[in-house]
Parts: sequence; structure tokens; C-alpha cells
Amino acid sequence: MSTINVALLGFGTVGQGVCEAIDTHQDRLKEVLGKEVKVRAVLIKDPTKERSIGTSINVTTDFQDILDIPDLDVIFEAIVGEEPSYTYLTEAIEKGVHIVTANKAMFAKYGPELLEKAKRKGISVGFEATTAGGIPVIGSIRQLLKVNEIRQIQGILNGTSNFILSQMRKRGLAFDTALKISQEKGYAEADPTNDIEGYDAFYKLLILSQTAFGRQPDWKNIRRKGISDLTAEWLQAAESFRLRFKHVGSLRRDSVDHIQGAVEPILVHDTHPFYSVEDVENAISLKGSLVGRITLLGPGAGKLPTGSAMVEDFLSLIERKYTDSAVSTVNAEEVVEESSHQWVLRIRETDEYQNWLPSFILKDRIQLDDYLYVFVEGRKETLESLLQTHDHIQAVPILKEIPLENEVKAGAAVS
Ligand SMILES: NC(=O)c1ccc[n+]([C@@H]2O[C@H](COP(=O)([O-])OP(=O)(O)OC[C@H]3O[C@@H](n4cnc5c(N)ncnc54)[C@H](OP(=O)(O)O)[C@@H]3O)[C@@H](O)[C@H]2O)c1
Repeated sequence: MSTINVALLGFGTVGQGVCEAIDTHQDRLKEVLGKEVKVRAVLIKDPTKERSIGTSINVTTDFQDILDIPDLDVIFEAIVGEEPSYTYLTEAIEKGVHIVTANKAMFAKYGPELLEKAKRKGISVGFEATTAGGIPVIGSIRQLLKVNEIRQIQGILNGTSNFILSQMRKRGLAFDTALKISQEKGYAEADPTNDIEGYDAFYKLLILSQTAFGRQPDWKNIRRKGISDLTAEWLQAAESFRLRFKHVGSLRRDSVDHIQGAVEPILVHDTHPFYSVEDVENAISLKGSLVGRITLLGPGAGKLPTGSAMVEDFLSLIERKYTDSAVSTVNAEEVVEESSHQWVLRIRETDEYQNWLPSFILKDRIQLDDYLYVFVEGRKETLESLLQTHDHIQAVPILKEIPLENEVKAGAAVS
């Protein structure tokens, strides 16, 4: 039986997951591909580390050894950071080797360039694992774009920040305590900045934008806010209004192809699909012009979910399902912005809020310690002008469900 020769760059959590997935699913791969998949070599950084790698696999610290593998078909890249990954993948494309990457920081920055280079060389690039780990969101977007137009994407894109928010809410913990638990469990790194300040979700948002809209918004125009300012009282107040905090990345494209993006803590109603997304789980909601809203939930990280995403990507690539990014068009029809929005505002008890509160519809309120939390509805402009003169007021938006225009009409037959 002929073989497909592959190499791995990186043998950490993800690299090991890919190796294990290939090893344990070899029969299935043979069945689908009619060929055996052989891992020829693994590139690592530290040659002194103890590793359990089969003796038939060459373990090296020199990337040239990888490029020198005769008839190398595919490289799986699971290194951390922009470089040397970008340089390695560029060289692989030049040599005519297909690539599958999990590296979101590198791909957010260099993805457009790599895709372009790969297109010129007739090479395929798989990047499913860069965004939401085991959830097949990139493949779903590419599949949808064959006919649908996507205007909006919302997602809980970082399992660590979601875990921290779940712990704070369920156990009434302070942010620092919940962060410590997530570090003890191995979810958060010693330096948790990437997860808790929203950089990780930001990279994923850029990759989603590239995939769904064919381009990224200007990086400086994406609002990015972390979750470290949230207090146990804030979560308690939200809970009393049947709302939950989620760290959500969102993208919206208007009819003139302007893309707005944000990563920020926001509140979701108990009717929203994100409400019950707990712990390290991820979720993504997209709206297609024909299909309506689709929400995907699942593991956003981890050895086997990410390994699975890379191996599935590899299969699609070998079967040549995807050659390059799907073509994305924008329809001139404007998505109508609703005039009324909802927020929870945190006000100091001593504030003269009686003067301005009547300009909103008050839906609920609760007093906790020295703060009053009010659940209000109103116009965006009213809130903006209030915040200009009262900069100590904290306002957290409430996420609207992506509206469904093509919901089944009442009385229509449903099978
Ligand atoms: N962990 C997840 O669940 C997950 C999910 C989706 C995407 N990702 C992405 O996948 C990538 C890998 O993540 P991970 O969690 O597997 O990281 P990890 O456990 O830290 O492993 C990184 C691997 O890359 C190797 N490496 C680092 N720098 C290198 C260099 N300059 N040359 C050669 N090898 C180098 C390391 O070598 P040594 O073993 O010698 O140190 C290690 O084997 C990251 O880009 C991450 O963002 C991770």
C-alpha cells in the first residue's frame, strides 16, 4: 500500500494529539484514503526532554531535516508564536508541501499571506484547529458560504476565560481565586494575559473574519476588553436578573463591507444559546442569509479535540475539498440596527441617578454593598451621553440573539 508522508512541527499538547489520532485511527484513515499515513519526523525545540515517540520517527531540532524528507506530503504545525512558524511554513509551501496549522497567533497575522502563497503554488492550507479547537467552525463557514451570505458571528472563543467566569458565578469566587483554580487545573498558563485579556479570542476573531468575509478588519478598530475587572458582586447582580457574563467575540459586516469587531465581557439572557455554555466549552453562533442561525458548541481546546480537528482538516485537504478560501460576497441589503438596547449599569449608591434614570426603561434593580445595579433598556445615544458625563458608571451590554428572519411562520407545517 502506498503511503502519505507527514511530519509534525511541535510535540506538545497538540502535536501529541495529532500523533495519537493518526496512530489510533490508522485503519479508518486507510479506509478513507486508500493509503497509510506515516509520521516520518517530529521537530522539537529541547532535545533533552523525555518523550515517548516511536523509534521509526526521526526526532530533530533542525527544520532542514523535515524539508529533506523524501516525498513529504503534509506538515502539521503546532508550535507556539509567530516565529519561526511563519518562516517554516513559507519554506514548506515553496517546497510544495501542504500544511495544517493550529497556531492562531501566527495565522491571524500571516494567514492571508500564507493562503496567497499557497494558492500561487497550488498548495492547500488547513487551519480548522486555530479557532475553537474541536468545533468544526472553519469548515462550517466554508460549507455555508457556497450559497449563504454571513453577516454576523458571535462566539465564546476562549475556554479559560469561560471557565473562570463559570467558577466565579457558581461558587461566588473573586476573579483572582477563580484564576488560580484554572491555573491549578492546567487551563490557564502561568502568564494568563492572552486568555483573560482577550488576545487569544482576538486572534480567533481575525481568522473567522478572514474565513467568513474574505478579509480582516483593521486590528486597531477591534475593541478588546478582558474579564479581570469583574467582581463576584457583578456576577451575583447579573444572576438576579437571569443574565450571565460571557466573554464574547463578535463580528458584524454591513452592506458597504465595513467590518466591526469586539471581544468583551457581555451579558446573555437565559434564552440565548450561550447562557448554558459552561467551563472550558466554546460556542459559536453564525447567521447565514438562507439557513438562519446556527450555533455550534463543543470543546475549544485540548489534546484530542485539537488533534481531531487537525486530522479531519488533513483528510479534507488530501481529498482536495478545500483549495483556498471560499469566495465571500456582500449583499447590498442593510441589516437593520434595532433602536432599543439593553444594559446593566453599576451605579454608586450615592449617585444622583434619579435625574437621568427615567430616560431609560427600568426593567429591574438590585443593591449589593455600595452599588446599585440597574437593568435598563434604551437608546444607544442616551447611554453614550450619560457615560460622557458620568465616567465612573460601568455599563455592560446585553447580547441580543442574532435575529432570525426566516423562522418558521406560525401555523406552517413542521415535520
Ligand atoms: N493546547 C491546545 O488545546 C490548543 C488548541 C488549539 C490551538 N493550539 C495552538 O497549537 C499550538 C501548540 O500548542 P500546544 O498547547 O501544543 O503547545 P505546547 O504544549 O507548549 O507545545 C509546543 C511544542 O512546540 C515546540 N516548539 C516550540 N518552539 C519551537 C521551535 N522554535 N522549534 C521547534 N519546536 C518548537 C515545543 O518543543 P519542546 O517540546 O522541545 O519544548 C513543544 O513540543 C499553539 O500555537 C497553540 O496556540 C493549542
